[in-house]
Amino acid sequence: MSNKKYRIAIIGCGMICNAAHMPSITELKKKGLAEVVAVADIREQAARETAERWGIPAWYTDPQQMLDEVKPDWVSVCTPNVYHKQWSIAALRAGAHVMCEKPIALKYQDAKEMFEEADKAGKLLWACQSRRWSADMDFAYMAMREGDIGKPYFADISFVRRFGIPTWGFFHMKEHNGGGSFCDLGVHFIDALLWMCGNPRVQAVSGMETDVIAKKKEDVMISIKESGAYIGTFTPRPYDPDEFSVEECAAGSMRLEGNFLVNFKFTWALNQPTAKHFILCGDKGGLDVEQFKLYKNVGRFQAETELKYFDNRPFAGVAFDAHRYMYEHVYNVLEGSEERRVKPEETLNVVAAIEAFYRSAEENREVRTEELGGYLK
Ligand SMILES: NC(=O)c1ccc[n+]([C@@H]2O[C@H](COP(=O)([O-])OP(=O)(O)OC[C@H]3O[C@@H](n4cnc5c(N)ncnc54)[C@H](O)[C@@H]3O)[C@@H](O)[C@H]2O)c1
Repeated sequence: MSNKKYRIAIIGCGMICNAAHMPSITELKKKGLAEVVAVADIREQAARETAERWGIPAWYTDPQQMLDEVKPDWVSVCTPNVYHKQWSIAALRAGAHVMCEKPIALKYQDAKEMFEEADKAGKLLWACQSRRWSADMDFAYMAMREGDIGKPYFADISFVRRFGIPTWGFFHMKEHNGGGSFCDLGVHFIDALLWMCGNPRVQAVSGMETDVIAKKKEDVMISIKESGAYIGTFTPRPYDPDEFSVEECAAGSMRLEGNFLVNFKFTWALNQPTAKHFILCGDKGGLDVEQFKLYKNVGRFQAETELKYFDNRPFAGVAFDAHRYMYEHVYNVLEGSEERRVKPEETLNVVAAIEAFYRSAEENREVRTEELGGYLK
């Protein structure tokens, strides 16, 4: 192994850059494997404060100027979703590997073009599906691999925040983020589910979206903590509830190849307790991931097994620990010592689900993925 030291630049200096990417790169830096050479953000204050906070030598308000002048060999794209494609392609064309926050795109054709650009450039394009390294999904993946579930055919997945509208940045605005809770929470659970089930092709989505609670404004209790951010680690943008233009609740069902149905519910606001559910059933057994339970017959007995997961990994309990494992993994992928865990065909499948969901919600019908431009061709 060459132990190359990567010169990393970051585009978008908001919450995830400061709370997850910078601490992860700091871990690589301690081992002499990477350093951040520049950051860029259209908000000068965010770029400058991030550079000062982490001792980064250069900051820019024009990401293209940064790419041209700094010529980084790795770029992490941490902007709102709508700008992922533009900056990922610009960075690939500037000769960098790209780690792009999820979702890398909102339309299948856009994601396809992004991977084509990566192929053309001979560089890695990586979707930050960090949740694959979270303790619950790591556990579920291992249970699936052990063969205890058998062939999966039904899943019930939900990530409910009762009042957890992200208010620190651009999440709540369609023109910048493209979508709301489905893009934010749903993408993680759908990606993890498809991954652990061997990436069955998404065939159709039927869904609905609502914004009835966020629109009430004065009745909505805003809690940054409940929305998954960490206070004090970044430069927030003031929140204006009148700007809210995405969904606070996304619910529906998805058909996967092999007679596999998935019910889902992803919310930033719902009159239900905050909770996660991840239930997966196959012909041999069933898994309740969040309760760490396995339902399976033992001989002629029905058994309910409480599983113990010992998270003895080095960053257990650390905020955004999954990003740290992911960075280490991507470094190893680039150095050829590990096979990539998040594969382009898996990311394309997730983006197909996103596009089909929003179209279904808008058109009030089930949308088949064959209807999406260029699907799996
Ligand atoms: N993997 C995860 O667990 C996870 C968690 C949270 C957020 N995210 C993703 O990270 C991305 C950013 O989320 P965040 O919470 O940091 O949001 P944020 O609003 O805090 O940060 C985004 C930053 O990008 C800047 N920006 C906006 N438009 C830009 C442009 N055109 N060019 C350059 N910079 C621009 C903003 O000024 C802001 O500082 C989103 O795609 C989100 O889905 C991923």
